[in-house]
Amino acid sequence: MITGGNRLNGEVTISGAKNAALPILCAALLAETPLHLSSIPALKDVVSTIKLLEQMGVKATCNADKVSLDASEIHTKEAPYEMVKTMRASILVLGPLLARFGHARVSLPGGCAIGSRPVDLHIKGLQAMGAEIHIEHGYIEATTAHLPNKRLQGARYYMDLVTVTGTENLMMAAALAQGTTVLENAAKEPEVVDMAECLNKMGAKITGAGTDIITIEGVDRLSGAVHNVVCDRIEAGTYMVAAAMTGGEVKLLNVRANLLDAVIEKLRDAGATVTSDTDTITVKSDGKLKAVNIRTAPHPAFPTDMQAQFMALNTIATGVSKVTETIFENRFMHVQEMQRLGADIGIDGNTALVKGVAYLDGATVMATDLRASASLVLAGLVARGDTVIERIYHLDRGYENLEEKFTKLGASVKRIKGLTG
Ligand code: EPZ
Repeated sequence: MITGGNRLNGEVTISGAKNAALPILCAALLAETPLHLSSIPALKDVVSTIKLLEQMGVKATCNADKVSLDASEIHTKEAPYEMVKTMRASILVLGPLLARFGHARVSLPGGCAIGSRPVDLHIKGLQAMGAEIHIEHGYIEATTAHLPNKRLQGARYYMDLVTVTGTENLMMAAALAQGTTVLENAAKEPEVVDMAECLNKMGAKITGAGTDIITIEGVDRLSGAVHNVVCDRIEAGTYMVAAAMTGGEVKLLNVRANLLDAVIEKLRDAGATVTSDTDTITVKSDGKLKAVNIRTAPHPAFPTDMQAQFMALNTIATGVSKVTETIFENRFMHVQEMQRLGADIGIDGNTALVKGVAYLDGATVMATDLRASASLVLAGLVARGDTVIERIYHLDRGYENLEEKFTKLGASVKRIKGLTG
């Protein structure tokens, strides 16, 4: 439950990135000695991933944000449907299992709220490296038994679409392949760069991460390392929008401004003041914002994971704005919920037209996916009266200690036992 109207002020510490932690946890499967990670956020998806790895034989020890993973004795090379259906990122065990053990059986991830989200490019890339893959009974069955030394072979592979976890899966697979792999049209997201840095510490030979051509020279084995996971730029962006919308002044700690250029640009266009130094960003605003047009695209363009949050900003900004979603085919689930709060939004294909209104009125709304639920929190922070958000398990997937962090900034946010239990 959120009671709107409080300006946010103070400091908030940003956690490690969910979308870096999940793939890097899976990278532990490649190592013959323990991998020691820090800045791992306490999120449901992290717990799910660690449980999946433990089911395979990984020994995990967790202590606050520190997780050590020992994959020296893997007995199962399978990711079962019941795990994958709750978390699509489980697909990230496919590349490592195949590369290190020559065999993997991973359930096809179903679709999800925001789109069908196929994994065809993950599969095509592994096939380009020689893997034999077929789909049966909803599982991806992959093997390299027929290949020389039963190992994946380095290949040149052009990815038809920019895919973040596709790039990560193939980078992990190529790290232990025989020969050199070149991934073209690779994703440039900071989380891809963070994984490459971790893999190189483990003994991989990867160059070009962060550009659209990544070259991976295969090695015979990888060992553990020590790695601190990059900060969560999407969590940071969410708090920055909250500061701008509520008309406060918030200083984010443990964050790198150079990961958020497109978001900072848009906040400045909206009229907020954004300043930064090496590991902090400060956002200041009087709460009177101008509507800004948004068009999502792969990094370094405006991130799709910040689209819903800026939609919330536009609902109460002055003017009309267009929000265009080019990455996922169904990422406007938050629109009808915002309309319940009084927002004036019309959808035309993959573009939403938002007309700023003077105020939103609190209501009961329903979270549908992770970033949509974050946008409803933002709307609730400025709506008049109380907003109750149901199904907030979506929030717990991607935001560590959300109500504590917002409460510390002066918001009135609390977790209640909803009518739906
Ligand atoms: C990652 O998902 C993130 N998740 C998503 O964050 C993020 O929204 C997305 O990248 C885009 O930035 C993780 O990193 C765990 P894609 P991913 O493969 O890798 C299509 C969040 O809120 N595609 O880059 O699954 C796909 O359907 C989550 O934290 C294929 O067609 O996204 C989509 O339209 C949500 N075939 C587009 O490409 C493929 O084989 C981009 O998807 C792969 C992808």
